[in-house]
Amino acid sequence: MIAIKNERELSSMRQACKITAAARALAGEMVRPGVTTKQIDKAVHDFIVSQGAKPSFLNYHGYPGSACISVNSTVIHGIPGDYVLQEGDIVSVDVGAFYQGFHGDCAATFACGAISTEAQKLIDVTKQSFFEGLSFAKRGHRVSDISHAIQTYVESNGFSVVRSFVGHGVGAQLHEEPEVPNFGAAGRGPRLLPGMTLAIEPMVIEGTHEVRILKDGWTVRTTDGKLSAHYENTVLITDGEPEILTVTEGL
Ligand code: MF3
Ligand code: CO
Repeated sequence: MIAIKNERELSSMRQACKITAAARALAGEMVRPGVTTKQIDKAVHDFIVSQGAKPSFLNYHGYPGSACISVNSTVIHGIPGDYVLQEGDIVSVDVGAFYQGFHGDCAATFACGAISTEAQKLIDVTKQSFFEGLSFAKRGHRVSDISHAIQTYVESNGFSVVRSFVGHGVGAQLHEEPEVPNFGAAGRGPRLLPGMTLAIEPMVIEGTHEVRILKDGWTVRTTDGKLSAHYENTVLITDGEPEILTVTEGL
């Protein structure tokens, strides 16, 4: 069952998502050489709590942080720690906030100081692939229309999409039905209906799409050490154009 949110639920969800998006923006502003990933995590945590919300990720299946901070060849679920950001790093920050019964979920990859042209292209293609997918996040399309658009755009730019982790429905639970893969043929999966809320989140790699999980049970790395980027928003399917809920306007 894919949950259809009513207006009352959506009003809570919009607020949760605004807090989440503001936390992502705050984290992005902190990305610079000399800052530790733990410092960013603390700022994200304190901001979310200051808004009367709860960090969705903290203790989720035992996850030890409020943000996932994934540097360079770490794809997702990087655990905040003592790593000191270096000039040239690319830093993916994924955050979630729970407010009035609903979760927001969003991520972006930020440049630490000056980065290589290739790294910037990876960030740009990853972000644009989200918008390519978003153009199919409309009533009547199927979930895999989003997936296919993302994959096609990413691969036409010479990068690959991660297969072993996918986007998802989001709402009262952080992860709900349906799964929203970033690959696959079009025209498959459930039809999209107004009131569905999806976390669309392309994870893109320079090299092959293979990834491995480190012994900490969380950190997902590229197997070949190549760079990876991530971009995610929580999106509402409407009668017309999709609405990105993880925006900071009006917080
Ligand atoms: N955006 C991530 C996801 O959808 C958030 C989960 S991270 C976790 O998978 F640490 F909370 F698991
Ligand atoms: Co997500």
